[in-house]
Amino acid sequence: MLPNCFMKYLIANWKANKNLEEARSWADSFNQILSQNKNINKILISDKLKIILCPPSHLLFPLKEKINQKNLEFGLQDISAYKSGSRTGEITAQMVSQAINYVIVGHSERRNTFREDDKILLEKVNRANENNIKVIYCLRTQNDPIPNQVNMVAYEPVAAIGSGQNEPLENVLSVKQKLPLAPNTLFCYGGSVNPENVSQYINCPRIDALLIGGASLDPLKFAALAEKVE
Ligand code: PGA
Repeated sequence: MLPNCFMKYLIANWKANKNLEEARSWADSFNQILSQNKNINKILISDKLKIILCPPSHLLFPLKEKINQKNLEFGLQDISAYKSGSRTGEITAQMVSQAINYVIVGHSERRNTFREDDKILLEKVNRANENNIKVIYCLRTQNDPIPNQVNMVAYEPVAAIGSGQNEPLENVLSVKQKLPLAPNTLFCYGGSVNPENVSQYINCPRIDALLIGGASLDPLKFAALAEKVE
């Protein structure tokens, strides 16, 4: 099925945050907000917005047990480049393919801290594709190559991540213009998006999705982002 080109995506990237108790409490608060806030409910039910929650892997199943909303799906923040088997410590695509629809690949924190290069990232994309998991592929600059078969490309300039210095919309759009995006590839921006600056990005027709780090850790802030979708 082709993606609904009017639908917007908010992708929560919790990074290495939250233990089980904290995640359960996030889920309780978020469920409560959704049950009380008719606006957000309407936005989700009318297919204007899809939320993709990407918790750390130990929280995936407990969260799935607690959160069940229309247009809310789950993903992970990374996936093994290897198939299942003798790979101690790895989470493989095959192991989680029934629990997630999306995976983030190539986040700058993986590239920079864990030295993941284009070759490893391509293997990760391949493993995801073999298991029908959609790929949200992150770029630090317009010069990072984009593998075939990614569903969404997320432009995240490193200086904008977690710094409070969100990249101006016009820069984001000018980078998008230079990217060799295949037809139907969704375009995502990430970097210091918060309830105050979200509207210009999420309501821009040339931006499909936002990748949210810090502001996704607080259910109230995350819900405030969703509420801005027009
Ligand atoms: P941030 O993180 O929203 O905290 O800047 C975004 C990301 O790294 O995906």
